[in-house]
Amino acid sequence: MLERLESLRTDALQRVAAATNVDALRALEKEFLGKEGVISEVLAAIPTLPAEERRDTGRGANELKAALLEAIGVRKSELDEALVAALRDSGGFDPTLPPAAPERGGLHPVTQVRREVEAIFASMGYEVLDGPEVELDYYNFQALNVPFDHPSRELQDTFYCDDKHTVVMRTQTSPVQIRAMERLSPPFRVIAPGRVFRNEEQDATHEHTFHQVEGLVVGEDVQVGHLTWTLRRLLNELFGRELEVRLRPGYFPFVEPGFEFDVRCPFCEEGCRVCSNSTWIEFCGCGMVQPCVLEAGFEGRDDVDVGSLTGFAFGFGLDRLVMMRFGIDDIRNLMGGDLRFLEQFPC
Ligand code: DAH
Repeated sequence: MLERLESLRTDALQRVAAATNVDALRALEKEFLGKEGVISEVLAAIPTLPAEERRDTGRGANELKAALLEAIGVRKSELDEALVAALRDSGGFDPTLPPAAPERGGLHPVTQVRREVEAIFASMGYEVLDGPEVELDYYNFQALNVPFDHPSRELQDTFYCDDKHTVVMRTQTSPVQIRAMERLSPPFRVIAPGRVFRNEEQDATHEHTFHQVEGLVVGEDVQVGHLTWTLRRLLNELFGRELEVRLRPGYFPFVEPGFEFDVRCPFCEEGCRVCSNSTWIEFCGCGMVQPCVLEAGFEGRDDVDVGSLTGFAFGFGLDRLVMMRFGIDDIRNLMGGDLRFLEQFPC
């Protein structure tokens, strides 16, 4: 076996030195050092050898392995250098050029607008909260005054995560209202931006995955005027000027009275595509928090006198704002993950 190793060594080193390109080197590496290569074969045969030969054979095989690795490395740099020299001499390669600049990532347009919204609310003393996207039915529906058999569930069909439908992909950011009440002591003001999910037929304005921003203010003497002032302030900051707004009655199970809050289209006076020719844009749902929702949220809290509290809440779609801000006409682009689209909104 020792003689075999010796002849393998001569043969391998000669062939490495004679290799004329990197592919040939790679093939040699596989032939000798690969998992099923010659050296593995020698090592595997050791237990079958007479006892006195085993040690030297093992050592010889390992030495050969190291020598080959080194020879292959040396030959590879020789070949690389020769390649660079050839390119240089042919005039097609300038080694003094700086390397290509690394590609820079950027913030997703939804992230850009979300951060803008967060900054506006932070300036009004709001805390920004996060909540789980995989949510209990209790938080997403029941604690928000939507029991199991409630017809309003039909509008928010979602993806259920277990057979009993107790765990859902959240259909709205409103469950964070309950989580906020469980954790915080009034008075408080919070927003909760995040991803939400619905079992939705997709088209240019509907996606199964989209984004909302929830708002909740709880304290003593919180009134509708505080709600409208806050939303107007948000819109003024976002659009850089005072825009007309209006409240219409709206039904949401967790607020009473509930409203639809509309804003005059910032892009036209007589109607355009963005406002579907109505000059109004439905901006969000909002209202005064239902007492039973306050009770669910603060249940078991000895430190909170629920009867003395009122609150307002609102929830708006972030994707629509992003589309308005950047002139995007199909919501499906936002979560599509196509870099050719995203690169158009550098930040
Ligand atoms: N969660 C509602 C939806 O997805 C929007 C909403 C309406 C949120 C009224 C609120 C609210 O906080 O008070 O349709």
